Amino acid sequence: MAITQVGVVGCGLMGSGIAEVAARSGYATVVREVSAELVTKGRGRIEKSTATAVEKGKLTAAQRQEILGRMRFTTAVEDLAGCDVVVEAATENPALKKELFAALDRACKPETILASNTSSIPIIELAAVTRRPEQVVGLHFFNPVPVMKLVEVVKTIRVGEAAIATARAFAESLGKRPILAKDRAGFVVNVLLVPYLLEAVRLVEQGVASPEDIDEGMRLGCGYPMGPLQLLDFVGIDTTFYIAEILFEEFKNPHYAPPTLLRQMTIAGLHGRKSGKGFYSY
Ligand code: 3HC
Repeated sequence: MAITQVGVVGCGLMGSGIAEVAARSGYATVVREVSAELVTKGRGRIEKSTATAVEKGKLTAAQRQEILGRMRFTTAVEDLAGCDVVVEAATENPALKKELFAALDRACKPETILASNTSSIPIIELAAVTRRPEQVVGLHFFNPVPVMKLVEVVKTIRVGEAAIATARAFAESLGKRPILAKDRAGFVVNVLLVPYLLEAVRLVEQGVASPEDIDEGMRLGCGYPMGPLQLLDFVGIDTTFYIAEILFEEFKNPHYAPPTLLRQMTIAGLHGRKSGKGFYSY
């Protein structure tokens, strides 16, 4: 299937990255946020990111203008009607995502492939609220989206081979490397990554080492670009907490149980970089 127009639902940390990469790859991109205020915030994030790319000589000012010119922002789901692929990147909340998928199914043309960037919710739960389960896939991007090469393509028990082939080709057209995963909570990467991040929080809780030393341990000892607590601040304390809750619900394995400190930081608004404070201050 030929893709010319791409929709992105949600313009937060992940959605803005996905929208930017889509527009940079030449697609007419329609971005939907829930309010004018969030549209302004999301658009600002993309303007800033592309301005940095110009400063670094990765884009010319003219190319940046072209990219921004390919993007349209809206608060109406109906404006995604003509998109060939829609990637949903809303908050990691199953009820909210199901509502969105039902609305997207009603609004979009019959051929549209509906994809979710969820990190942990089984895609079949979203497919099941639509009349097109054979066209619903997972497309899981990684933060920062413009930099990270991976996309997990998630295959449900109802999806069609054509939709999977289109989703893979779409990911490749964005300059990404797709890997195929079965539709199980956490797919491949988060099943491995989340217990590691949670264990780092437990080390802090137990006073085994300071956040700085834990991070240095993994950076210098294992060559990771960021330590686990830095990465938690980067991905979002709240986001990781929600992912852990979903994984724990699915597997009932204590490895995925969110530690008390993560829960309390989420409640307290210590969400990491985006809120100015998490394990570190920004
Ligand atoms: N947008 C665009 N480009 C960015 C960027 C952003 N937000 N952040 C960094 N970059 C680019 C920089 O421009 C730079 O490019 P250049 O080398 O061509 O100049 C390059 O990335 C490296 O950036 P910096 O020199 O500023 O900083 P670092 O070398 O420290 O790299 C990093 C930053 C790429 C974020 C690196 O620290 C890293 O790889 N961290 C780990 C990130 C990671 O693990 N992400 C996955 C999280 S899990 C996830 O997303 C799944 C979810 O479900 C939880």
